[in-house]
Amino acid sequence: MNFENVHTIEDTESAYKLLSKKSSYIEWQKFEVLNVLPLMKASPREDSVKLYSNDYLSLSQHPKILASQIQSIQHMNEEIMMSGVFLNNVSQQGQLEKKMAHFLKSEETILCQSGYFANLGLIQALAEPGMVIHIDENAHCSLWEGAIRSGARIFYFKHNDVSHLQKKIHQFGPGLIVIDSVYSTLGAQARLEEIVEIGVQNNCIMVVDESHSLGTHGSLGEGLVAELGLEEKVHFRTASLSKSFVCRAGIITCLAKYKHYITHSASPFIFSSALQAHEIARIDAVLEEVKIAHEQRKLVKRNTHIIRKEIEGLGIHLLGSEQIIPLIAGTKEAAFMLRDFLEERNVFGAIFIPPATAKDHCMVRLSVHAALKESEISYLLEVIKKAKKFLL
Ligand SMILES: Cc1ncc(COP(=O)(O)O)c(C=O)c1O
Repeated sequence: MNFENVHTIEDTESAYKLLSKKSSYIEWQKFEVLNVLPLMKASPREDSVKLYSNDYLSLSQHPKILASQIQSIQHMNEEIMMSGVFLNNVSQQGQLEKKMAHFLKSEETILCQSGYFANLGLIQALAEPGMVIHIDENAHCSLWEGAIRSGARIFYFKHNDVSHLQKKIHQFGPGLIVIDSVYSTLGAQARLEEIVEIGVQNNCIMVVDESHSLGTHGSLGEGLVAELGLEEKVHFRTASLSKSFVCRAGIITCLAKYKHYITHSASPFIFSSALQAHEIARIDAVLEEVKIAHEQRKLVKRNTHIIRKEIEGLGIHLLGSEQIIPLIAGTKEAAFMLRDFLEERNVFGAIFIPPATAKDHCMVRLSVHAALKESEISYLLEVIKKAKKFLL
C-alpha cells in the first residue's frame, strides 16, 4: 500500500471542521482516519462461513440476473456516458424508474449512482440554511453528510427515542425528520409508526433510508414503509441498491412533481454521470427476482431468529432484532481480537470501528442471509460460544 496519499489525522480533522462549521448544533463524533490495518485480515475460502456481505436474499449470482446484464453488454448499440440530467422519461433509466415506482407504491423514483449519493443529493435538494433537520443520532453517515452540507440547523435525537424527538420539535420547531428504517450497525428497526405519527402531527417532512429493509421486508420486498402501509406519510424514501438488490446504485421515491426539481438541484445528480445500460438491465432483472423471493425472505427471518435466540441463550446481550447482528467487543483493539478469533476459525463478518461506530462500541457485524446452511449456523454458534470472552 502506498501511504503517501493517506491523510493524516490532522488533515482529516480540519477537513471535518470545515464541513461542520456550517452548523453549530452538531454533536457528531470527529472523523478519525479509518484504521490503516486491513479490515479483513485473512481471505475467506470456499468453505468459510461468510457473513460480511449484505446480499441478504443471496441473489448476486442468480443466473437470470447475470444473463440479463451480459446480454445488455453484448447487444448495446451505444453507451451514453453523460450526466443523468440529460435523460428523459422515455430513456431506459426513465422507464425503469417508473417500474420501480410502481413496485414501491410511489408516484416516481430517481435512480442514481449509489445510496450515498441518493441521501446526500436528496437532503441537499430539500434543506437549506436556517431550516431545521431532526436526525436520529445513528442515521447513516450519508444522511448526516447531506444535513451538514445543506447548512440547515441540525438537531439530533437519541436513537429511536420518540419522546426526545417530540421534545426537540417542540423546542426548535418542525422540519425534516431523517431516519433509517433498519439501522446498519445496530440491526434495530426504527419505531417507524410512532415517528411518522409525530411527523404528521407536527407538519414535518419524513425521509427514511430503507437500504437494509428493501428486499427483506414487505410482502414483495418493497421495504418496511410499505409493509406498514406508510407510503403516503413518508414523503421520501431512499435506499442503497447494493444490499438485497445486489447492484451498484441508489434510489429515491418522491411525488412526480418533485422529481425534476431534485435531479436538477443536487450536485450528485448534476455533476456525476448516469447509470450505464448494463447496470439498468441488472436492476431490472433483480427487481423481478426480489418480487418472487418469498422463500429467501422467510429464510432470512428464520435464520436471524435462530441465530439471535441462540446467541442470547448464551447470555450475550444483542442489540436490535433484524438480519444485521452486531457482536459488540467495545474498544477497537477488542474488536480486532474478536475479528481475528473468528477468522482463525473460518468465520468472516465485517469489523466496524470509528468513524462507523462510537469509540467504545466497536464490533464485528454479521449479515445473515438466505443461503446459510444448517451446518454453517451450528458451526457459527459453536464459534460464538467460544468467542464470548471477547464480547461486551
Ligand atoms: C443505511 C445505508 N444508507 C446508505 C448507504 C450507502 O449506500 P451505497 O453503498 O450504495 O453508497 C449504506 C451503505 O453502507 C447504508 O448502510
